Amino acid sequence: MALREFYRRNLRETPLGAAMRAPVRGFFFLQHLLFSRLPRIVGDAMPGLRQSVQSGVVRPAAAGLTRARSSVAAAPGRIDAAFRTHYPTAWNIWYRARYVRRYYTARIKPALPWLMRSRELSNFTYALTERNRMYLASTLAVVLKRPVGEMVGYIEELERDEDLKTRIVDRVTKLGRSIGVDPTADFGRRLGWYAIVRALKPRVVIETGVEKGLGATVLCAALLRNTAEGHPGRYFGTDIDPGAGLLWDEPYKSMGEILYGDSIESLQQLDVEIDVFINDSDHSAEYEGREYRLVLPKMSAQGIMLADNAHVTDELCRFSREAGRQFLFFREEPADHWYLGAGIGISFA
Ligand SMILES: C[S@@+](CC[C@H](N)C(=O)[O-])C[C@H]1O[C@@H](n2cnc3c(N)ncnc32)[C@H](O)[C@@H]1O
Repeated sequence: MALREFYRRNLRETPLGAAMRAPVRGFFFLQHLLFSRLPRIVGDAMPGLRQSVQSGVVRPAAAGLTRARSSVAAAPGRIDAAFRTHYPTAWNIWYRARYVRRYYTARIKPALPWLMRSRELSNFTYALTERNRMYLASTLAVVLKRPVGEMVGYIEELERDEDLKTRIVDRVTKLGRSIGVDPTADFGRRLGWYAIVRALKPRVVIETGVEKGLGATVLCAALLRNTAEGHPGRYFGTDIDPGAGLLWDEPYKSMGEILYGDSIESLQQLDVEIDVFINDSDHSAEYEGREYRLVLPKMSAQGIMLADNAHVTDELCRFSREAGRQFLFFREEPADHWYLGAGIGISFA
């Protein structure tokens, strides 16, 4: 509505407004042509089939499209039934195409406001739908063998952390538009990372691939609360980009450190027992697999391994089978976003 109002006030009577209307009109014309005109044209071009089927002289399968043998009046029910039986794919193509259109229209709709508003180029941020948060809590309850209510509690705890959210928004605002992050505090699947750290009270958490540091901040917020409750833990992030971690600030920074350089090399040098490991660095399957194989001997008995790229590669799933570990995948459902979501691959003992 806001967009329509903006257009009405500022653009409608201008040459720019006219230029913007042209592609929109073109789209609707094409849609009309495909879903309304073309089916009628195709129907009109098949009188032979219609007549021959109606007369009963020619069997529908052999009717062809032009060989009319009778001029008996229309009997649409019989034609429909015959055509549906013998050419089901062609018969319902327009009907099915409308499903496709409706399905993707709903998904593409949030794209326009996003294109006008967002500054993000990758690693998009968004909230999860309420249903999706419930599924996340239920998945984690199974993995961690905890009551689902406890998982819901952790997820809500992060969502209600106004101090953390204000700090993130302030930090983004301070750093300016060029860092390519929107001034919002939406955590997506990282809600699950937070809940895992809160539930397990790990002593060591590793995240390979820090980027802006949104994941680092969320993980350290969980460690900070654990510490306050008497369960201290430490965060290690790795990133090849020396500028990674822009959003990661105090008090969260005091929970750990970022090891700059190639992740494999950093992991090789790290002599710790790992309780939670998150792979989110180089997203080639080959590199991902190398990270898992490298950290496996360092994982604690109940240690959890997470993949941020499991919606693209099946590396953690394969690795888990080889290592005799369990695997589950949680799929994100972003709220009010065109992106169909990533997920969390979870490998557990
Ligand atoms: C998808 S981002 C990480 C996002 C972050 N985990 C979060 O929650 O927002 C991937 C990061 O991995 C880093 N990266 C890519 N290849 C790497 C490598 N070989 N070693 C370490 N970091 C790497 C990139 O510099 C980038 O910052």
